[in-house]
Amino acid sequence: MPLMGNPLCAAALLAFVVISVLVSLLIGSLQHGSKAKSGYVSNGTLGEEFAPRHGELIYQLNERRKEIMPLLATAGQGSRGQPSASSLFPQQYQPPAADSDLGPRSELTDGSGLTGVDEMGCDSLVDVRAVDILGSGYTKLVVRVFLSEDQPAALKFVNEQGSDMEKCLQEFEDPRGCYELVSYKLKKEIVLLQRLQHPNIIKLRGHCMEDAGGGEEEGEGERGGGRVTAILEQGHPLQMIQLLQSPWEERFKVCLDLVRLLHFLSRSPLGSVALLDFQPRQFVTVSGELKLTDLDDATVEEPACQTDADCTLQFPHRHFSLPCSARGVCEGLNEKRNLYNAYRYFFTYLLPHQAPPGLTHLVDHIMNSTGELRADINQTLEAFEHILLLYKSGLHLDNLPPSILKDYTVMHGMRTSGSVEYRCWLSYTHQGCVLSVHNATEAASICNSHSQCTTFCLTGERTWSGRHLASFYSGFSSLVPDGMSEVYLRKASPPETATV
Ligand SMILES: Nc1ncnc2c1ncn2[C@@H]1O[C@H](COP(=O)(O)OP(=O)(O)OP(=O)(O)O)[C@@H](O)[C@H]1O
Ligand SMILES: *[C@@H]1O[C@H](CO)[C@@H](O)[C@H](O)[C@H]1NC(C)=O
Ligand SMILES: *[C@@H]1O[C@H](CO)[C@@H](O)[C@H](O)[C@H]1NC(C)=O
Ligand SMILES: *[C@@H]1O[C@H](CO)[C@@H](O)[C@H](O)[C@H]1NC(C)=O
Ligand SMILES: *[C@@H]1O[C@H](CO)[C@@H](O)[C@H](O)[C@H]1NC(C)=O
Repeated sequence: MPLMGNPLCAAALLAFVVISVLVSLLIGSLQHGSKAKSGYVSNGTLGEEFAPRHGELIYQLNERRKEIMPLLATAGQGSRGQPSASSLFPQQYQPPAADSDLGPRSELTDGSGLTGVDEMGCDSLVDVRAVDILGSGYTKLVVRVFLSEDQPAALKFVNEQGSDMEKCLQEFEDPRGCYELVSYKLKKEIVLLQRLQHPNIIKLRGHCMEDAGGGEEEGEGERGGGRVTAILEQGHPLQMIQLLQSPWEERFKVCLDLVRLLHFLSRSPLGSVALLDFQPRQFVTVSGELKLTDLDDATVEEPACQTDADCTLQFPHRHFSLPCSARGVCEGLNEKRNLYNAYRYFFTYLLPHQAPPGLTHLVDHIMNSTGELRADINQTLEAFEHILLLYKSGLHLDNLPPSILKDYTVMHGMRTSGSVEYRCWLSYTHQGCVLSVHNATEAASICNSHSQCTTFCLTGERTWSGRHLASFYSGFSSLVPDGMSEVYLRKASPPETATV
């Protein structure tokens, strides 16, 4: 992102963020006692706060609010049976008729008595320490922090230097209105994160919405609207370049997680959800799990249609046609859009390259059926789970000659010391050769295929799928006792590589 390009710029921005977090927390705590009698006298009409010439801005603000309403309308009927949107709107809040006023803005401020997962409120931001910037985009800025008691978390704010804000300011020259407009995207994301809970969606730990009225009184001046902060579990931005150089197993994991996510989204509590902006930068990883973090461009509606021609999915090099259903909806369009995007942004880069020989026909089949949109998300998930099963059980290795282990002497309860490392392709370490294997037989076949290999060592370490990590060496100086490990030494090493 442009903000991160220049280290000086990033440092300045971090300083800005730290200061503004502290300032807003201070103001937040000052406001705390006086919220009820704050000078905010609106009866709920967004318009009255802005000069009349801002009619267009007001229109846009109302459009954004209306976009959030349907997401809240079914609150309380969530799969987990909790009033998940209660902090945005009080529990007894009744969504108004479409054309009426949308209720006092103070109802959008933080509620108390939260239940469920989204339990942290403004209070948990009191002793916050900003550490560094995790990422930024057109709309939002994400900062790594330690909350009280040293809990790491990611805070998401409106990116006040981002393009969304800049564009709005150019058009309307109204910092307060623009902050509010852009903050609706973050509010929408918060509501979606409350409603869509899944292992592959970032966990919302809490949020804070300040009273919109307090700001000016406290002399904040320019920045408008109540400040909105989402408190998320902290992840690591997905590094596509790094992933391309990772072992197949890790790349497969990213694709599998993505398919599990899309399966959930296709029949979520909100209906079939499409991710309109579907790119690797919308995802992070948390302890090896892929998680969607950018939800502001998600839509829960399937497009309405009159004829089949209204239901075409356009991509740069492909387009697909769907039938228009009797209800007048392009049924299944959201699911298909997601699946094709998964194919073009993830599978094509991550899946085929260096797939295990016993699995390539299955991988090719997935590539073809998703690339042609012949399989739906259910069938795609089944195909992935089938690959995972074979891979975990070693059933794809049925052509390994078991006798190859006879060429090795095994030493149980030992590991090597003073090992002579060599590098291999797609290794788990950069300096040496560490690969995942099903068992010693697979490791032996790999060692046989590397001319430098004379020895391999199985440690107790395992990958996410339960496969063993094996280190391959061209030699070592001694063996040391290690209860978890086994060393395999090739008996008849080729003369030119015998270093032991
Ligand atoms: N929980 C998190 N942990 C770590 N990094 C995160 C987290 N959430 C977001 N990020 C990083 O911050 C970046 C910006 O967040 P996000 O995508 O929500 O903002 P955005 O303005 O909508 O971005 P874009 O312009 O790409 O749509 C992400 O690309 C990601 O790298
Ligand atoms: C309340 O809103 C209406 C428009 O819906 C407006 O005409 C009226 O003046 C407002 N009242 C107050 C007290 O602000
Ligand atoms: C799928 O397979 C068919 C037939 O082999 C081929 O013509 C087509 O290009 C393949 N499509 C993709 C997306 O790989
Ligand atoms: C997909 O799977 C879900 C259950 O996971 C099931 O309810 C649904 O009917 C399936 N859809 C299709 C089209 O088979
Ligand atoms: C390793 O797994 C393969 C495939 O399942 C099997 O044929 C072989 O006997 C196993 N080797 C050992 C040492 O267990």
